Amino acid sequence: MTGITVDELDVHYGDLQVLWDVSLEIREDDSVVAIVGPNGTGKSTLLKTMSGLITPTDGTVEIFGTDSRNLSPSEIVERGFVHVSEERNLFGDLSVYENLKMGAYTERETFEETLEEVYDMFPILEERNDQKAGTLSGGQQQMVAIGRGLMAKPKVLALDEPSGGLAPQLTNRVFEKVDEISDDVTIVLVEQHVDQALDLANRAYLLENGRIATEGTGQELLESDRVKESYLSG
Ligand SMILES: Nc1ncnc2c1ncn2[C@@H]1O[C@H](COP(=O)(O)OP(=O)(O)O)[C@@H](O)[C@H]1O
Ligand SMILES: [Mg+2]
Repeated sequence: MTGITVDELDVHYGDLQVLWDVSLEIREDDSVVAIVGPNGTGKSTLLKTMSGLITPTDGTVEIFGTDSRNLSPSEIVERGFVHVSEERNLFGDLSVYENLKMGAYTERETFEETLEEVYDMFPILEERNDQKAGTLSGGQQQMVAIGRGLMAKPKVLALDEPSGGLAPQLTNRVFEKVDEISDDVTIVLVEQHVDQALDLANRAYLLENGRIATEGTGQELLESDRVKESYLSG
């Protein structure tokens, strides 16, 4: 197992404990691992801890065999774990191209080739190449954020609520793209659209109140009473 292993993680913000004894793994042969759960339950905190932005109070994160305490956030990216945050963090005054280029800082040699792959995946980004990212629609900005993540040639790409703030039709487009990307790259998908995320996922974790409440295949979680009662409509 040379993917990412999270072992008995506790995370605090000051005195407030947010994650409790969280263990999970992302295997390199996973296509999509979903992490679902209600707002405020610690999903983003978990991804930030996995990408080295937050130091846990207890427990460990292993990134492709290396303890994350020995890696800086940019070294974690270089090893192949890339995290597209909920806020997207685009440079609004810079062009689409410049934003994409910034994602490639670890992979300068293969930049042109990777850019072609990203444009193939998201033709709209090639069309809008010179446009300032801040002037794009929300859906297009999300494509830039995902595209920028892909520019670092990740082995594992974590997406924090990629459908956040998008209209239903665009949400569907994002899920289609995630499905497409997962043919080549392992995706960690944090979502509040629980049914769609579980539908795509080969494995999934339900996080509740900062703890792993249930785990299994995407299908198992979709069919579990706990998920049905609390998270699925209709
Ligand atoms: N920087 C922070 N400082 C203090 N508390 C925070 C901070 N970020 C998040 N929290 C709190 O931690 C909990 C989990 O937040 P978060 O990880 O963003 O949850 P989720 O992504 O599942 O919505 C929430 O109670 C939130 O208010
Ligand atoms: Mg969040």
